[in-house]
Amino acid sequence: MDLNETPQYSADGRLLRVGADLQHIAFIMDGNGRWANLMGKPREFGHTEGAKAFERVVEYCGDIGVKYVTVYAFSTENWKRPRAEVEKIMSLLEMYLDKLMEKADKYDLRVRFIGDRTPLSEKLIKKIEKAEALTFYRTRTVNIALNYGGRAEMCAAVNKLIREGKTEITEKDISGALYTAECPDPDLIVRTAGEQRLSNFLLWQGAYSEFYFTDTLWPDFGPEGVEAAVNAYYKRTRRFGGLV
Ligand code: FPP
Repeated sequence: MDLNETPQYSADGRLLRVGADLQHIAFIMDGNGRWANLMGKPREFGHTEGAKAFERVVEYCGDIGVKYVTVYAFSTENWKRPRAEVEKIMSLLEMYLDKLMEKADKYDLRVRFIGDRTPLSEKLIKKIEKAEALTFYRTRTVNIALNYGGRAEMCAAVNKLIREGKTEITEKDISGALYTAECPDPDLIVRTAGEQRLSNFLLWQGAYSEFYFTDTLWPDFGPEGVEAAVNAYYKRTRRFGGLV
């Protein structure tokens, strides 16, 4: 993939391509339940529409040259939700995994899941493993955080390093033992639906990420929202703790 140093805009100011300094955008897809509530529909309907927004966002990020997209689909805490809602999210994931596989060629997409798979159904685990194996060589990546928690991820990473015999660890060791080992840290983390918190998402990786919060509920989110977030990103000055 060719990456321009700086972002490219059309003559009327629309974003065409991101620059080389914006490789990874992560999304906290929040507000499905509230959106459904406003529509007078069950929460599950919000997730159905949320899954459509996920598809729009992945496609658009591909169009503008974002190399890595990570979405928070299901946290380690989301099991506390009613069973019907959990089952709905899992079945949507299966369905969209099939859809992603159909489009993997067109979008040159590597599909990866981050999180603890052990409690997932055998059928879903098999599907995930197959999707990852078939797409591992592609250029762009979509990471789907499923049964994911940032603290659990760090504990798992440290335990892995202990099992490997490490008695003293570096930041590089931890980064390399996380689920996201092969990804650069997110440059930008977007959260929809008005809350301004991380909710245990990419705690280690987000150390120097820029944050963008919008009141738009996730099912209403799409290319315009991503463009606004990217435009806001380009108004920031990233110093990584130094002076610019
Ligand atoms: C947060 O909204 C959303 C979730 C916990 C689930 C996200 C799932 C999807 C978008 C569908 C499946 C995903 C993929 C990748 C196909 P919420 O339910 O907490 O909303 P609320 O805060 O308004 O109640």
